[in-house]
Amino acid sequence: MKIYAEITGWGKCLPPAIMTNDDLATFLETSDEWIRTRTGIEERRVSAVGTSKLATVAGRNALAAAGVDANDIDLILVGTCTPDEIIPNVASAVQRDLGCKFAAAFDLNAACSSFLYGMHYATQAIRTGVHKKVLIIGAERLTRILDWTQRESAVLFGDGAGAMVLEASETESGLLASHVTCDADARDVLALEFGMSFDRFNFDGIMPFNFVGQEIFKRAVKGMNTAVEKVFAETGLTTDDIDSLIPHQANKRLIDYLAKMCKVPEEKTVINIQKYGNTSSATLPIAFCEAVEQGIVKPGDTIVSAVFGGGLTCGAGIIKWGQRVTPIRPNNEELPSDGQTALDLILPMHERTKQAWKQRGHE
Ligand code: ACO
Repeated sequence: MKIYAEITGWGKCLPPAIMTNDDLATFLETSDEWIRTRTGIEERRVSAVGTSKLATVAGRNALAAAGVDANDIDLILVGTCTPDEIIPNVASAVQRDLGCKFAAAFDLNAACSSFLYGMHYATQAIRTGVHKKVLIIGAERLTRILDWTQRESAVLFGDGAGAMVLEASETESGLLASHVTCDADARDVLALEFGMSFDRFNFDGIMPFNFVGQEIFKRAVKGMNTAVEKVFAETGLTTDDIDSLIPHQANKRLIDYLAKMCKVPEEKTVINIQKYGNTSSATLPIAFCEAVEQGIVKPGDTIVSAVFGGGLTCGAGIIKWGQRVTPIRPNNEELPSDGQTALDLILPMHERTKQAWKQRGHE
């Protein structure tokens, strides 16, 4: 009998502090008009807590929606490129804080493609019987790694987390086909030079973000195009069979392009980039969660997803939703506010980075 990896739980966590485009324009040479028209972003969230806390809340909400006991989860997989620490991983903090005592726990970094990469491998693990109940999370605190003096990249990103529970099932559901790739010739066009090869004894606080927006755009379109064609070919489905498109949220123009390619009308394309910006590995699970909450995803729907990220990693998937679109237990836990505004959190980082650039001789 064929085993599938049904999505039985979904949850999200968006930190409460909101930074609008107008807030950004108070300290960067930018404008609401530029950001809106080039990217579709209107505001984003800024977290006062680490990635593992965001991941834990999203994970708890997904467990509640699935009605699954923490002790029954046998794998926690966290997609992130902004872990709290290098060792130990974020997944172990989630394991401890949710009490998933019997779960293996690891992080995966394929930048913004991490969640779909995670679904791809978790689905295979469930289909082969290696795991039965997997908690998969995409969580990021990108506002901590941005150079807040670089307007080209600083305006694009935000913090957040989303999660799903995948369970072994005999019903045809979950990720029916997926294709993941990496265009490594372009690994330098989206790169943050900070890590174990970094000279920590001469660190002045600047983490240069190499970001060649137009090159990323071009390659993302090509990579997603190929990946989407492959998953259609593998399943034998056509655009007529698709109920909705849930893509990575990096740029509204890119999403519009994908929708045209997949022949999905605007009302069936899930777009929330205006509220959260690009939350990297978290965009996909947050978008799925909202699509279910808003009734865009209906029982038995067939969904196409496409992602791309640093690497340049890329991927696409065809997902069949199960018969349940209501959570078994309430899945709306939120992070409490600590009273700090987004500008309270960002302005000290902006000021210190500006001073560090000055010390290097840049104005
Ligand atoms: N505010 C105002 N002006 C700006 C800003 C800003 N924040 N950023 C750049 N500009 C200026 C530039 O300096 C340039 O000025 P010039 O014409 O005087 O030289 C002008 O705006 C146009 O800049 P471009 O880079 O050509 O703008 P473009 O239309 O290509 O949009 C963007 C840039 C939004 C980054 C686009 O290239 C893009 O979406 N790229 C792909 C998506 C992407 O990279 N997303 C990031 C996520 S990566 C990931 O998801 C893993």
